[in-house]
Amino acid sequence: MGALGQIGSELTPKLRSIYGEDNVIASDIRTPNYSRTNEGRFEIHDCMDIKKTASIVKKHKIGLIYNLPAILSATAEKYPQRAFEINLLGLYNTLEVAREYKCAVFNPSTIGVFGDTTPKKNTPQDTIMRPSTMYGVTKVSGELLGDYYYSRYNVDVRGVRFPGIISSDTLPGGGTTDYAVEIFYKALKKKKYTSYLKAGTYLDMMYMPDAIKATINLMEIESAHLKHRNAFNVASMCFDVEELAAEIRKHIPEFILSYKIDPVRQKIADSWPDGLDDSEARDQWNWEPSYNLESMTADMLSKLKSKLWH
Ligand code: SER
Repeated sequence: MGALGQIGSELTPKLRSIYGEDNVIASDIRTPNYSRTNEGRFEIHDCMDIKKTASIVKKHKIGLIYNLPAILSATAEKYPQRAFEINLLGLYNTLEVAREYKCAVFNPSTIGVFGDTTPKKNTPQDTIMRPSTMYGVTKVSGELLGDYYYSRYNVDVRGVRFPGIISSDTLPGGGTTDYAVEIFYKALKKKKYTSYLKAGTYLDMMYMPDAIKATINLMEIESAHLKHRNAFNVASMCFDVEELAAEIRKHIPEFILSYKIDPVRQKIADSWPDGLDDSEARDQWNWEPSYNLESMTADMLSKLKSKLWH
């Protein structure tokens, strides 16, 4: 069970293919329009409604909740109060229901938990976390809450710190890393893209199949293997917009990159690491990504080409 959004809409069909169609209940505040998710069992649900969360968990005998509702970094700066409610109070509701009904919880975190005082290069698993965004504040608090519910109530809460997620099937919304998806659409349709982040702004990114793999692998590992829980650094590629454009140019040589900087998103990106050290995830639950910048770019372009023109 879990709310949808970018990860949920791709995680749901994958979970159904592994655990059986009837064993995965998707939920969201509205009926999703992505057909693959529509095909299975679904409940309309607002994560702020703790009674409804409890009744769905009870009705379907849920054992694991993927807590995916989130307002991402850039939107959270526009609506900080709403972000606090969804990202933190929504999680609190989920944890309370998980405590009562003895469910495990996947609680995704983010590279946004880090801030200006965090070591920028090879950012360690355990390090300074003083984020300056509402997104970061809610997510670092969510990590602490997850660990608290584990040690105090034995609720099996786990999470990863997702970087920007790149997908050919679903669009991100309201994040600082969204450019890394938009650029592919513009490259194919217009052969040009105007970046809102400066050249030299390095951020961790991940291709969706690896994000799904990380989620499933972390939740499947025996609890005894884990020294950390909330949340693991995971990494697979790190680039700036120039490196991504250069990779796209290998397929579309006439592609042109220009700039119009958005100060809000630039400031957020500047406060985030230039690349995470994910050795703890590799050691504790065998994390290993399948895609790098080159293979992700080739796959994105070929999938989007067939989607846009067929
Ligand atoms: N993709 C997220 C954002 O940009 C980072 O986790 O807000």
